[in-house]
Amino acid sequence: MRSARYKAPTWSLFVFCLLFAAGVVAARPPASDAIASAHPLATEAGLLVLEAGGNAFDAAVAVSAALAVVEPYSSGIGGGGFWLLHRASDGHQVMVDGRERAPLAAHRDMYLDEHGDVVSRASIDGPLAAGIPGVPAALAHIAQHYGRLPLDVSLAPAIILARDGFPVDAVYRRMAGFRLAALRQSAAASAQFLVGGEPPPLGHRLQQPDLADTLEAIARDGAQAFYTGEVARRMVAGVRAHGGIWSSRDLQQYRVVERVPVVARYRGHRIVSASLPSSGGLVLTQILNMLEAHPLDGLNRADRVHLLAEMMRRGYADRARYLGDSDFVRVPLARLSSRVYARRKASDIDPDQATPSAVVAEPRAEGQDTTHFSILDHEGNRVAATLSVNYPFGACFVAPGTGVLLNDEMDDFSVKPGVANAYGLVGSQANAIEPGKRMLSSMSPTFVEGPDRITILGTPGGSRIITMVLLGLLDAVDGRSVEDIVSRGRFHHQFLPDRIEVEPDALSDEVIAELQFKGHQVRQLNDPYGNMQAIAWDLRSGRISAASDPRAIGASAVVPLSAGRTRPDGVARSASDPVSTFVR
Ligand code: GLY
Repeated sequence: MRSARYKAPTWSLFVFCLLFAAGVVAARPPASDAIASAHPLATEAGLLVLEAGGNAFDAAVAVSAALAVVEPYSSGIGGGGFWLLHRASDGHQVMVDGRERAPLAAHRDMYLDEHGDVVSRASIDGPLAAGIPGVPAALAHIAQHYGRLPLDVSLAPAIILARDGFPVDAVYRRMAGFRLAALRQSAAASAQFLVGGEPPPLGHRLQQPDLADTLEAIARDGAQAFYTGEVARRMVAGVRAHGGIWSSRDLQQYRVVERVPVVARYRGHRIVSASLPSSGGLVLTQILNMLEAHPLDGLNRADRVHLLAEMMRRGYADRARYLGDSDFVRVPLARLSSRVYARRKASDIDPDQATPSAVVAEPRAEGQDTTHFSILDHEGNRVAATLSVNYPFGACFVAPGTGVLLNDEMDDFSVKPGVANAYGLVGSQANAIEPGKRMLSSMSPTFVEGPDRITILGTPGGSRIITMVLLGLLDAVDGRSVEDIVSRGRFHHQFLPDRIEVEPDALSDEVIAELQFKGHQVRQLNDPYGNMQAIAWDLRSGRISAASDPRAIGASAVVPLSAGRTRPDGVARSASDPVSTFVR
């Protein structure tokens, strides 16, 4: 005879299944914690904080701060970013906007000479290129409003990494070599990031004592230690002594903004992504709406790439025309994200012929910047965060005595209508420079929420971020593994320049020939691009999988609850990774 004790769970399981079928509850909570980030030491920093009793949001603070130390070419406390959060207890979703702002003394033509021509590199190298950083304010905000641990616990791994150092890896050396001339222009940057004016040798232990001091001050006193007081005074003095225009008022007035994420629907999935001042969510929405009108089903590879490229072209054209900081300019959001608009926009796509983008502009450099990480904790809290200092090593300027490497995010403004920025992106008045305005971004941290699976993903890569996330989310909707999502070959179209850019081996010669026959210019790239970090939660089994892009040195870890809170040994590393030794 069955006991009452046996019947109770059977009944509740029945109710649970009904609710699951109705989409009210997830079938199984995550069986693990998971982190995927662009650097093994940052992934470890996040895991340590989870072990210490933190949730995904505390881990996000730890990973962001650790990346600021070990991946200074991508992000840092002198930069900005977007943190997309999902709180499991009440389903609250928010985008924490820690994007940089233009200094109050900034003005529309600040990078033009007396003839109205763009002054070469003025918005890329040196402190005049730097927006007011948002990362310290965002980390303090996330810790205070969403985390469980005090800031000094979550920042501890990053402080140790900055104080004791970390071994220089091949990517660091490559990036430092790429920005060598600019780094040498700043004595403090040169002292912090180079050895004898050269990229440090492989394995060299890179210590950043000034940065450790600044992080320690933030850990002790919160964000005000960065935006007021001695650190702020030194930053303003350093910036102004080297041609910049920051004032103490700029730092005092910086505020994080909580924004409602953009939500699109696509084939039974809810796509949650970044809102303005990132263009990511809106451009993705437009393309997904066009895809609902022109599905990819049954198309061969060339027709599929052609259709997607035409939709990318149209999405980026609207990005250039309409998008900017919606706190400053009126953006026709409802229209741009409507299905009717997308249907009309896609109506002139010819299945056999490319539509020319009228004018061609040449980008000045490839995107090797920015960083992304994804986190899921066993309670179901999630974070997708994309952070940046813009170009590799940002402005290549460190304010003396602070250890803070400044961003060069001002280049993400349209410094002159129609003139391409470092990523070949053009813009209009909507993204013109104004005091206090946030520059338009492409960073697109994203959740893909389906009936069976939730995927957390994102990537760096300048103007190509949005199309990488698009291809990744289409794979997620198709149910592909996270390993596939982060590794599959990529292609990109951004309206101008009018061409499809293709990763090595992403498309066969036959497909490329067919695209050319349809009238596309195809540029085969010599190097792969992107550094996607993805986590998937299978809602029926509770199984978690995570993957880091094989193109780089990132590390993903899935730590089952049964493993307890001991130091995980599941951090996957590629052969070229530095050995991590900071944990004590
Ligand atoms: N700086 C890269 C971006 O925000 O899109």
